[in-house]
Amino acid sequence: MSDGASRAFSSIMSSIDPAMVVVTAAMEDGERAGCLVGFHAQSSIGPERYCVWLSKANYTYRVAANSSHLGIHFLTADDRVLAERFGTLTGDATDKFADLELTSGAGGVPILQSCPHWLVVKRIATLDEGGDHVCMVTERVEAHSAGAFIPFRVSHAEEFTPGHESTARPLPPTERAG
Ligand SMILES: Cc1cc2nc3c(=O)[nH]c(=O)nc-3n(C[C@H](O)[C@H](O)[C@H](O)COP(=O)(O)O)c2cc1C
Repeated sequence: MSDGASRAFSSIMSSIDPAMVVVTAAMEDGERAGCLVGFHAQSSIGPERYCVWLSKANYTYRVAANSSHLGIHFLTADDRVLAERFGTLTGDATDKFADLELTSGAGGVPILQSCPHWLVVKRIATLDEGGDHVCMVTERVEAHSAGAFIPFRVSHAEEFTPGHESTARPLPPTERAG
């Protein structure tokens, strides 16, 4: 829709210019995923809760939906290369973690060693209200920070082409396609 209200909505969203995070996940069998995320927010003070919204198009969504924990890495203004990797490549075709230094947190979730500001969170609820992103409500398990930082923001990612458009949907697995 390109009516006035839609233009105003876009203008407001551009002006708030959110900080970007990389959300990671791993399944019990070791399959791992991660993508750049602009839709995220603290959602409770006590207990410490945090929501991330993952696109139904993304490989990360499919892995995260089968993971107990998520890693949420808060990017700094110096993290452009990392942001581009996680926001423009897709785990459907590439192992984005291949040459990165990693540790693992609760549930085996990958932690990116080059990021000093991160949370490991436990998934406690999922809200799919029919939009193109799904809300994962989580609770803080671990947190690490090197202090105050200048975030990498959505405006810094203007030239990125996402690995998946939000309207894309994966093909059904072969056994269901028939
Ligand atoms: C500026 C920007 C913001 C994005 N915000 C989100 C987001 O909030 N949630 C999400 O699931 N994907 C978001 N994406 C898209 C994914 O990061 C991107 O499609 C990624 O390549 C998907 O990788 P995957 O298929 O391995 O999960 C964003 C991408 C960009 C460039």
